[in-house]
Amino acid sequence: MAPHKKEISASMMCSDLVNLKETLKIFEDEGVEHLHIDMMDGTFVPNFGLGVDYIRSLRELTSIPLDLHMMIKDPEYKFQWVGIKETDIVSIHYESTFQVQRALDYLQPFGCKRFLAINPATPVYDLEEVLDYIDGINLLMVNPGFAGQKIVPSTIKKAEKVMQLLKEKNHENVIVEVDGNITLEHASTLSKIGASVFVAGMSSLFKGDINKYAYNLEMLRKAINN
Ligand code: DX5
Ligand code: ZN
Repeated sequence: MAPHKKEISASMMCSDLVNLKETLKIFEDEGVEHLHIDMMDGTFVPNFGLGVDYIRSLRELTSIPLDLHMMIKDPEYKFQWVGIKETDIVSIHYESTFQVQRALDYLQPFGCKRFLAINPATPVYDLEEVLDYIDGINLLMVNPGFAGQKIVPSTIKKAEKVMQLLKEKNHENVIVEVDGNITLEHASTLSKIGASVFVAGMSSLFKGDINKYAYNLEMLRKAINN
């Protein structure tokens, strides 16, 4: 199987609203593949985040596909609210519902890419029974809920374990996304391990003011294609 293309997903919770249009123009010019949308309900994670109206407005401003990271409880009953498109990625968390496989089934009619998100302490073997029902894994390198956190160190080793599992189970078609504290250094390490979607937040892209974003993206692009 050909290796997955290396892609960037810009974390919109880090983007200021004042310069939103200009920021999106830079992302389009730089070929950013996805916009990462952290949806948070104040229950599954201790924060509130980007919601339905924000998503609707964003769709009017750009056609870059969305990478919807649903950090919400019982997401299977809320998919309808969001306006999911076929070109989107949708991640749901292993711990966010008692019926993960059913939730993944409910996602199927939307035609989007279905990802399962796992927290730093979620055992890798939890993935085994759902490999047939997912297109990707969103591997959290931090505990979800906030931008600008430090990596949980054990997650690098865990990324290796995930790749090993995919190989053993003949599921190398499954995409691995990494989310949280993706610095240039972590991006480069994780790319070598086999990750292919990189969430760009405070640790890489949103450093300095808007004039730095294009440069920051080019640096990240270099790091992931090393
Ligand atoms: C963590 C969020 C991320 C965050 C990642 O809960 O899911 O999207 O913005 O970017 P950093 O850690 O670099 O700010
Ligand atoms: Zn996220």
